[in-house]
Amino acid sequence: MGEDLAVLQAEFPAFRIWQEQMPGRIRYVARSRDEGVNPHTVITADIDELREALQPALAGGGGTAIRFSAEPNIARMYSYWLSQKDHYLADRAAANKVLDQFPEVAEIARANRAFMTRAVRYLAEQGITQFIDIGSGFPVHPNVHETAREVAPDAPVVYVDRDPVVLAHARALLAVDDKIGVVAGDLRNTASLLTRIQLSGVIDSIVPTGVLLLSVLHFLTATEADAAVATLREWIAPGSYLVISTGTSTGTDPELIRLLQDAYGDTTPVTGRTEAQIAAWFDGLTLADPGLVDVWAWRPGTWRRPATAQARFLAGVGYKDPDMPRWSP
Ligand SMILES: C[S@@+](CC[C@H](N)C(=O)[O-])C[C@H]1O[C@@H](n2cnc3c(N)ncnc32)[C@H](O)[C@@H]1O
Repeated sequence: MGEDLAVLQAEFPAFRIWQEQMPGRIRYVARSRDEGVNPHTVITADIDELREALQPALAGGGGTAIRFSAEPNIARMYSYWLSQKDHYLADRAAANKVLDQFPEVAEIARANRAFMTRAVRYLAEQGITQFIDIGSGFPVHPNVHETAREVAPDAPVVYVDRDPVVLAHARALLAVDDKIGVVAGDLRNTASLLTRIQLSGVIDSIVPTGVLLLSVLHFLTATEADAAVATLREWIAPGSYLVISTGTSTGTDPELIRLLQDAYGDTTPVTGRTEAQIAAWFDGLTLADPGLVDVWAWRPGTWRRPATAQARFLAGVGYKDPDMPRWSP
């Protein structure tokens, strides 16, 4: 066992940790000795990322079980609102505090996932054959690749997130398919994020691509979000689509934004942008019908307006005209 691995094993005795050699790369695997632990298995090519992913085990009491984590976390609270399984006590408590006052938040989370499926299917029907999902969160069925492949079989998909635990779960569940990439990347450093996507070799950056920024831009400051969107808009190949869903301050009770900021503490900003500021993210692109609308109202099918409307969440799909110029990092 290498020295780094031995140190890691000593830090996390509740896990069996080993290295695997694969053609052209190595990866690290940590598997809990206790069946009831979440995460039970973590797989990553980066030993530092593995250490970060296992940190909650220490918070859970000497590394014997990961049941508690001190700070509520974006991806885990969202998982709770979606009635999925990846959350701890602190996440549930914070998520419930929001639901007590704004019960429609869970409904909006579900409407947002439903929007993802409608938008991805629409893009695939327009001929898009590859996708990048940035701020992808924990894998949730149906995922982007499952939805896209109903129309475009074998469509390659790159999932990007900055959360090491999300990445570890995504690698364990998704990266068994060589047309799926799971990439660590942060929208606050878009140039590095794009380089990592290109290095993954999963997609071809000169081919029109569907780029998804779903329920993530409100976790950036206004300056960071504007810069990230502008870079992506320029980078995508002509013929590509930019798909955005995000919270907005227009028509939303400011108390909800305050409550969310309180829940996430200093782990992330929560920024409410006006409808006009969000519309400006699509400058230079052509908005597909019906334009920038409430998330449930984008080609809604059977989706209806949430029961109460103290919170608004917008969605839009922008198309980059084939003769628009392109920037490379
Ligand atoms: C609410 S979840 C949304 C998941 C998925 N996109 C969806 O809409 O169903 C937001 C995700 O964005 C990720 N995230 C937050 N800030 C980010 C950043 N600066 N760069 C990349 N990912 C980020 C979080 O880790 C989390 O997994």
